[in-house]
Amino acid sequence: MRPIPEPFRIKMVEPIKRISRREREAALERAGYNLFLLRGEEVYIDLLTDSGTGAMSDYQWAGLMQGDEAYSGSRNFYNLKNAVKDIFGYNFTIPTHQGRGAEQVLFPILIKKPGQYVISNMHFDTTKAHVELAGGRAVNMVIEDAFDTEKYHPFKGDFDLEKLEAFINEQGAEKIAFIVITITCNSAGGQPVSMNNIRKVSEIAKKYNIRIFIDAARFAENAFFIKEREEGYADKSIKEIIKEMFSYVEGFTMSAKKDAIVNIGGLLGIKEDEELYNQACSRVVPMEGFVTYGGLAGRDMEALARGLYEGIDYQYLEYRIGHVKYLGERLREGGIPIQYPTGGHAVFVDAKKILPHIPYYQFPAQALANELYLDAGVRGVEIGSFLLGRDPDTGENLESPLELLRLTIPRRVYTYTHLDIVADGLINIKEKAGTLKGLEFTYEPKILRHFTARLRPVQ
Ligand code: F0G
Repeated sequence: MRPIPEPFRIKMVEPIKRISRREREAALERAGYNLFLLRGEEVYIDLLTDSGTGAMSDYQWAGLMQGDEAYSGSRNFYNLKNAVKDIFGYNFTIPTHQGRGAEQVLFPILIKKPGQYVISNMHFDTTKAHVELAGGRAVNMVIEDAFDTEKYHPFKGDFDLEKLEAFINEQGAEKIAFIVITITCNSAGGQPVSMNNIRKVSEIAKKYNIRIFIDAARFAENAFFIKEREEGYADKSIKEIIKEMFSYVEGFTMSAKKDAIVNIGGLLGIKEDEELYNQACSRVVPMEGFVTYGGLAGRDMEALARGLYEGIDYQYLEYRIGHVKYLGERLREGGIPIQYPTGGHAVFVDAKKILPHIPYYQFPAQALANELYLDAGVRGVEIGSFLLGRDPDTGENLESPLELLRLTIPRRVYTYTHLDIVADGLINIKEKAGTLKGLEFTYEPKILRHFTARLRPVQ
């Protein structure tokens, strides 16, 4: 695939350097074979996350100098509120420190009784955690095709509509607190949700009088995929597509650290429900900060207001999606199995297929991630059984349906040559895959173990 050119010039750089393989071996051993415990300087190309790792533009940086640091009613807040009204068509905007800040404000308002369900195509980890903290139960209803990494489907993030309606009928609508559509569907491989599916899910929600929201972390990338892949949208602008997507729900939580290309920030957007807005206001003040800053400085809100527009620019999105796809195509050409088609923000490598000799309880995707670090100095992240944890009742390791290595591409940060290094590294590893060993715990924390656990290769 021919690289799609960058719609920007680079006028400031951050030097990075690659330490030697011997140094990387020592670093990995010190980190307990857990890449989260490395120091940033020990990593050459960091594909751990696309969250807060993007490069802001000169216009966004200039906005930082124009912060009006008023506790209440700063002009930056109004710029942000106007951007949300203009892009999403929503009346109410509450800034938060990041995505999970918006989740902790909204979810306890919606989950009225313990044990109520929250249904998503697929919850992100913190979203699931906030559902559970508020007493709810998180269930995922993405289509089965999402789990078949080789099968092409243009919208692998879609809800299984039959399953959704059957579940509502089985449980009764009063047992469902709300539905949240995650766009794009991060955990299924950064896969988009079609407009048709969003519309149908919203029709089901209306039919049963169930509240409905969007987890909007990668809303702009989702809109781009709709324009490219869905019949009837090729001639619509990204902004028109976004307006339509958000017209089908009543509000959104957003981690602005992704598509709005800021290092910190989040949003709670509410279309028109003033009562819900008032309830959210009384929660945001004690938790995040006053309603016109929600944990952000005025300057952060200005960068965010500007970033929202940069993130929905067609030329930028064409480059962005093409850049990630370039890595996906290079890996496919090199015989590396990935979640296909390539997602919006990351390439998800199917580690189960590369390392069939490592059982799920020895974490094949973590073994692959570690080897990629040793070989090329590249840090990816495991999305599989290591992250999933144990069954709380039996204490057994849960088996994830997919063992994935996520190579998450920060926005406007790495070049195509950097991606070549990542691809070459993995293709190299494939040749010696049979020699890689699984991992076992030397220390395993009880909750969210993948962040701080220590491991060693199985002998
Ligand atoms: N929702 C989705 C779909 C996400 O991917 C994330 C974060 C959040 C909510 C929470 O937002 O981090 O701003 O509090 N995802 C990051 C990742 C961390 O690496 O995928 P946050």
